[in-house]
Amino acid sequence: MALEFSPQALQKVSEVIGRYPHKQSAVVPVLYLAQEEFGHLSQEAIEYVANLMEIPAARLYGIVSFYTMLNMQPVGKHHIQVCRTLPCALQGAGKIIAFLKERLSVDLGETTPDGKFTFSAVECLASCGTAPVMQINDTYYENLSPEKIEKILELLK
Ligand code: FES
Repeated sequence: MALEFSPQALQKVSEVIGRYPHKQSAVVPVLYLAQEEFGHLSQEAIEYVANLMEIPAARLYGIVSFYTMLNMQPVGKHHIQVCRTLPCALQGAGKIIAFLKERLSVDLGETTPDGKFTFSAVECLASCGTAPVMQINDTYYENLSPEKIEKILELLK
């Protein structure tokens, strides 16, 4: 069966589109809804959204590859995204990344073999005043230290 939004998701899409003067302006939040609905943005999902939004699929590939919050590949149950932009870097983001690499035994862009964690480095998460910062799924974790991360990982087990 072809991929399509559930009626509930279609309702959300319609609400989101209604907030913008032009349907195409809603493409990023609609892609995000598609990711929530389908798990990740596969080729089929991107083409479905392109058709729905009346935008060439090639443009959507450009958008999806630009935004780190949009995933073309499946990610683990917990997607850890550590900010590596300058303010976070100056507050120790490199050490946080090194700690997580060792703690999870994965490199950036990889998922743990049990599928629990995907580990990424991203650009500014817009919380520079509380650097270093990471986002796990939709939740922010700020003023990070290895000890704090250890406690967070324990809670996510
Ligand atoms: Fe890390 Fe802005 S630089 S949140």
